[in-house]
Amino acid sequence: MVIERAGFQDSTQPQRVVIVGIRLGRMTRSQMEASLAELARLIDTAGGQVVARASQEIHRVDAATFIGKGKVEEIGALAAEHEAEIIVVDGELSPVQNRNLETSTGLLVLDRTAVILDIFARRARTSEGKLQVELAQYEYLSTRLVGRGKTFSQQAGHIGTRGPGETALEYDRRRIRERITKLKRSLSHVQAHREIQRAKREAVPLPFVSLVGYTNAGKSTLMNALTRAGVFVEDKLFATLDPTVRRLRLPSGREVLLADTVGFIRRLPHQLIESFKSTFEEAAHAHLLVHLIDGADEDAAQHVEVVEKVLAELGLHQKPRLDVINKADLPGAIYRGEAGAIAVSAKGGSGLNELLGRVDEILRLDFHRTVLKLPHSRGEVLSQLYRVGFVINVVYEETGTLVDCELHRKFWKKYREYEVSAE
Ligand code: GTP
Repeated sequence: MVIERAGFQDSTQPQRVVIVGIRLGRMTRSQMEASLAELARLIDTAGGQVVARASQEIHRVDAATFIGKGKVEEIGALAAEHEAEIIVVDGELSPVQNRNLETSTGLLVLDRTAVILDIFARRARTSEGKLQVELAQYEYLSTRLVGRGKTFSQQAGHIGTRGPGETALEYDRRRIRERITKLKRSLSHVQAHREIQRAKREAVPLPFVSLVGYTNAGKSTLMNALTRAGVFVEDKLFATLDPTVRRLRLPSGREVLLADTVGFIRRLPHQLIESFKSTFEEAAHAHLLVHLIDGADEDAAQHVEVVEKVLAELGLHQKPRLDVINKADLPGAIYRGEAGAIAVSAKGGSGLNELLGRVDEILRLDFHRTVLKLPHSRGEVLSQLYRVGFVINVVYEETGTLVDCELHRKFWKKYREYEVSAE
């Protein structure tokens, strides 16, 4: 069956989708259900509508069709009954399995990776984000092109096919490889530029705070609440794909840079983990990670585990971290986190002052309070101190200028010769 070009983006009628949960290996039933519920939200984000769901426990993956032959027929019938156009399997299909499932059901079949790639393609905003997604899509496509050219042309404009998918038929493997090489080159230019930006930022040594958390935890909402940054916020997954950095003033008067990062998700497609490393490179330079947790999500504890696992993989688990439990305004907000975690409502505004106070407190540990006496001949040092440190008080005396300030350890050494006392 040829699927009409409809495309979630433009269509007022969302495409109807049957989702298939897979219970493999040691996965428990509730883990499968949680993963399937997340897949349903991903599909909603991509613009589809889940009209029916099925599940299967798999002991041995069928090389040809992933799920058992009987199940394929059952799902085909379910799709027909609910007039679904797309089947999404909550697993990773090989290209052959994908093709065979499409042939036997006559419908477009996608796996979890394709859905996530589609969402990322729609959400990327900066040139780097767009390049990264395009690269991930081509890498995914390059393994699937053989024998699928026809299907891809039919899929044009549908979920999972935006971007390169639309023109897949024109590309043979060689041309895809060329495109990948070119994308990688462009990316390295963009990344070099980002490197320069970071160097510039580090020259102004404002503490850098990176907001991390599971997708939909409320990071963008918190950014907005804290900085009125106007970060793109909506009730869909992955509203944020590119880090956005904003200046933020803490209660002590100290300014920090606050960066939003892409949301974590379980089983993030490996193409994207690679592509999005640079998003986390930002976090690697942070003085503090603020880990935002949706306390009203019944899977909060599992989400925390996923985030911690990924942070460990990225070597960021040693960073100072503050756990913040969000959505305290909701009656279902029952997750409490570890001792020391702060409860806030990014939407309602409760707990935000406490949060800022705690960030202040933690960052103070990185800074050194000192009193410097600057000779009158070194007037320019005071203006440097205003830029690189946190000036608390200035007293002009006959013999020089006394400056009570906090300096990052890095800069403290530089100005130590003027030190008269330290706390
Ligand atoms: P990703 O971009 O997917 O990583 O999401 P995010 O973590 O940036 O979440 P976002 O700020 O987009 O918020 C997700 C949803 O949660 C939105 O519908 C917000 O309105 C809602 N939300 C965020 N904070 C709160 C809160 O404190 N209380 C309530 N009730 N809802 C909230």
